[in-house]
Formats: sequence, structure tokens, C-alpha cells
Amino acid sequence: MRNTDEHALQAEFDRRVAAEEKIEPTDWMPDDYRKNLIRQMSQHAHSEIIGMQPEGNWITRAPSLRRKAILLAKVQDEGGHGLYLYSATETLGITRSEMIEALQTRKAKYASIFNYPTLTWADIGAVGWLVDGAAIVNQIALQRTSYGPYARAMIRICKEESFHQRQGYELMLEMAKGSPQQKQMAQDALNRFWWPSLMMFGPHDGDSAHSSKSMQWKIKRESNDTLRQRFIDQTVPQIEVLGLEMPDPEIKWNETRGHYDSGEINWDEFYKVINGNGPCNHQRIKHHVKAHQDGEWVREAVRAYRAKQARKKDERAA
Ligand code: 3HC
Repeated sequence: MRNTDEHALQAEFDRRVAAEEKIEPTDWMPDDYRKNLIRQMSQHAHSEIIGMQPEGNWITRAPSLRRKAILLAKVQDEGGHGLYLYSATETLGITRSEMIEALQTRKAKYASIFNYPTLTWADIGAVGWLVDGAAIVNQIALQRTSYGPYARAMIRICKEESFHQRQGYELMLEMAKGSPQQKQMAQDALNRFWWPSLMMFGPHDGDSAHSSKSMQWKIKRESNDTLRQRFIDQTVPQIEVLGLEMPDPEIKWNETRGHYDSGEINWDEFYKVINGNGPCNHQRIKHHVKAHQDGEWVREAVRAYRAKQARKKDERAA
């Protein structure tokens, strides 16, 4: 049985969430709210970091200096997003090493999309346009999430994601309006990245384990299906401008709904990927583990520096 103090704290928390006031790290919050935020935010951070791999893979093969500079900047931005999000998650009482361990031991997930390979240069366009495009649709809503540090991180991240989406679309436009072979590459990239991009929004609302609590706490502001439909509605006209074929033959404007209808996602594939058996899951984690091990000397140097500073402080105090 909870005591009166805890009831009062819970009532105050509920009032603040209802009044759209941000919950801050030192505020009281229910344990399940904290746990759910740690889960979502750390998975989000892991997605940003793992997402550097499929694009980083093309930096040395970018076809011009301009394209290379853009791609370098984008991949660095993703690294920065991961770092803001890890820092924001640390304010909830989990350490960076605990989060990294959860990723590397596959206890924590990361966005399914990054388990697909980037096979051609056109894939870099498709990733910027579709993957970052889907991420923005989701993250604009998260700018209003109830946890202050997460909401504030999202504001900056969305600005950068917007540049990422535009550079991807510009690249696709150049390919789609280029030679027949380039147009074919653009079509192929669209066909392969369309469905995994729709999967980024998660299971249908009825199958989403965390949605109802997350919506009640205003961690999530809109449902998986609402955001997915918004992405489809905004992307279909962009496909038309590119002059490419629709990646799904069932895409059709529905006058009554005022939205595009579309085909069903292959949910078996989705669950296979999120449970560790997609085309690149093994490769992505293996690469992360190696990069982390290669960076051990940096962490060691930081620890040594901190120890030295602490010794100096003690000496001064003595
Ligand atoms: N990929 C991997 N796992 C997914 C997923 C996806 N596309 N969609 C859902 N899942 C997982 C959930 O994490 C959950 O697993 P868990 O219980 O082990 O944590 C399970 O499937 C059930 O799904 P739910 O719908 O119940 O999960 P959520 O309520 O958390 O909704 C979400 C899923 C919409 C992805 C939500 O977590 C969210 O909005 N997260 C923040 C945004 C985010 O993580 N974006 C990553 C995109 S990539 C990115 O931003 C990088 C950029 O550079 C492109």
C-alpha cells in the first residue's frame, strides 16, 4: 500500500503532465515512467549510432567532393545525436556503459532500418530522403514529449534531420532525372527502402506493447499508425515529382479518408529483424563491439586524467 506522500507525488506528477509542464531530472517520477523513458531514449540513441554504419560505408566512395562533404557532415551529425541522447538518458540514472552493454548483448534494440545494407550510391539518397524523412515525422511529435531533456534534444535533432532529408531528396532527384541507369538505381533504392522505412514506425497501434502507457504519460504524442500514415501522405507526392514508379501497387488516394491507402507491411520480416535476424544485425553489432574496443584507450586516458585531478585536489586540501 502506497503512503500518502507517494499519492501526493503521483497526483502532482499527473497534474504536471496534464498541464503540459516538462518533467525534469530532479523531479519525482513513477518508476515505470523512468524505465519506459530509459528504454525508448536509449534505443533511440543506439539507432543514431548504429545508423552511422550503413552511410559511413559510402564516405570513401562518394562520387564528388561536394557529396563527400555532405555525407561526412550528416554522419557526424548522427554521432552527435547519439551523444545528446545518451547524455539525456543518463539524467534518468543509467550510465553510458550500462546502455552500451545492453546494446552489445542485444538486450536493447535499435531501429530495424539499419539492419538493411546500402548496396548502391542511390541508397544513400534513399536513406536521407526516406529514413531521415520518417525519423523527422516521428521526432517532430517528440519535441513535445513530457520529459524535458528529451524534448529539448529533439528540437536540435529535428533541425539537423531536416537538412539530412533534403540532401537525400536532392540526391534522388539528380539520379531520377539522370541517365536511364541512374534512374533505375533510384527506383531500385526506393523499392528496397520503402517497406523498411514504414516499419520504422513500429507495430500497428493494436499490437504496440508500450503505446498506451507512453501516450498516457505523453512520452509518445502520436500513435505509430498515425505517424506512419502522415509519412506516406507526405512522401507519395514526392515520388510523383521524382517520376518514379510507386514501390507499392496498392498506393491509391482515398477520397473518403483523405489519405493514401497502401498495402500491408510484411510483419514476419519486421519481427525477424527486430529480434536480431535481419540481413545485417550480426555485422552491425560486431562492428560496434570492435569500434568500442578500439576506443578503450580514450576511456582509459579519461579515467587516468580524472584520477590525477582528484589526487591534485586531495593534495591541495591536505
Ligand atoms: N525498430 C526496432 N525496434 C522496434 C521498432 C523498429 N522500427 N518499432 C518497434 N520496435 C520495438 C520496440 O522498441 C519494442 O521493443 P522493446 O519492448 O524491446 O523495447 C517493441 O518493438 C514493441 O513496439 P512498441 O510500439 O510497443 O514500442 P514503442 O512504443 O517504443 O514505439 C517507436 C516504437 C515508435 C520506435 C518509439 O520507440 C519511438 O518513437 N522511439 C523514438 C524514435 C526512435 O527511436 N527513432 C529511431 C529512428 S532512427 C533515427 O532517428 C536515426 C536518424 O538518423 C534517421
